Amino acid sequence: MARELLKVTDLSTHYAGFGGSRLVKAVDGVSFSLEEGQTIGVVGESGCGKTTLCLSLVRLLAPGAEIVGGSIELGGRDILQLSEKEMVEVRGKEIAMILQDPMTSLNPVINIESQVGEAARRHRGLKGVRLRDRVHDLLESVRIPSPEVRMEEFPHQMSGGMRQRIAGAIALSGTPGIIIADEPTTSLDVTIQAQYLDLLRRLQKETGVGLIFVTHDLGIVAKMCDEVIVMYAGKTVERGDVRGIFSAPNHPYTSALIRSVPKLGSKDPLYRIEGQPPDLSDLPKGCSFASRCPIADEHCVSHEPPLMEIQSGRMAACWKAEENTMPEVAS
Ligand SMILES: Nc1ncnc2c1ncn2[C@@H]1O[C@H](COP(=O)(O)OP(=O)(O)OP(=O)(O)O)[C@@H](O)[C@H]1O
Ligand code: SF4
Ligand SMILES: [Mg+2]
Repeated sequence: MARELLKVTDLSTHYAGFGGSRLVKAVDGVSFSLEEGQTIGVVGESGCGKTTLCLSLVRLLAPGAEIVGGSIELGGRDILQLSEKEMVEVRGKEIAMILQDPMTSLNPVINIESQVGEAARRHRGLKGVRLRDRVHDLLESVRIPSPEVRMEEFPHQMSGGMRQRIAGAIALSGTPGIIIADEPTTSLDVTIQAQYLDLLRRLQKETGVGLIFVTHDLGIVAKMCDEVIVMYAGKTVERGDVRGIFSAPNHPYTSALIRSVPKLGSKDPLYRIEGQPPDLSDLPKGCSFASRCPIADEHCVSHEPPLMEIQSGRMAACWKAEENTMPEVAS
């Protein structure tokens, strides 16, 4: 069995919204584990807590956010118990994150060489020519043309695609065991995005790094990931092996997401999930998907379904999960 890199148990992160008067339960009781060489996809509509989950894993949350429960075990210790000083040693060395918008993670006034070299210097003790060589290799590995020239430049001199790849090089710099990539949703065109994904996969093959990949795009999950976590309103609603879930989803929300994927050559109108996710500061009493679920009943509205094991390795939070709800979707 592959080595377990990360074990997240019952993690909850809340934001104190509107001056603390409303609590936004952005991540609520999420659990999963990541093994060496494994890729886990995190999917779900905008606002369901994907980025908050990732930022919690590296403890880089915005002011007002608080991890209110759970544990994050990395290399045998719970990083929630570490001081910020100790966390600085963990970030980049054991776990690194590529932010959704690379411009917010790149420093505009520091050149690319220093930014890409920082983790290699700090965590791997490289300096001088060896450090410069390492930066050169990293830029080459993320397919930055003319690395020796680009090293001297600044983020604003790069295209969006290059900045995303530079952010990838920064994440790789300290050779961490885990990389979290929050998908660049708007900044990249399709070809550049495909190249970026290929790059992550290639690097994974070479290094055995564990990847957590956040995306709206189920096509990408099918291509990239071994397991998938489907999030809805801050919670995991389905989790398990990608192939199994895509061929026969157990949760109606997963079914609806799969149905929303445009099919190549199909003239059918694109399926849209009607309605909106609930307000995370005022969650309904029962199942949070009930108002949008085509098969909801009275029991769903008044009783929240726990995440249950449906079969080995497959979890779903739905009272009707085992009936497998929308069979036409799985075809
Ligand atoms: N800094 C913040 N302060 C208060 N609430 C926030 C903050 N950041 C996010 N939230 C809220 O937390 C919830 C989860 O947001 P998050 O950014 O984690 O979602 P997401 O799944 O990454 O969305 P997207 O797909 O649009 O990137 C949302 O309701 C959002 O409004
Ligand atoms: S518990 Fe009920 S409302 Fe919620 S997803 Fe399942 S069937 Fe739909
Ligand atoms: Mg996000």
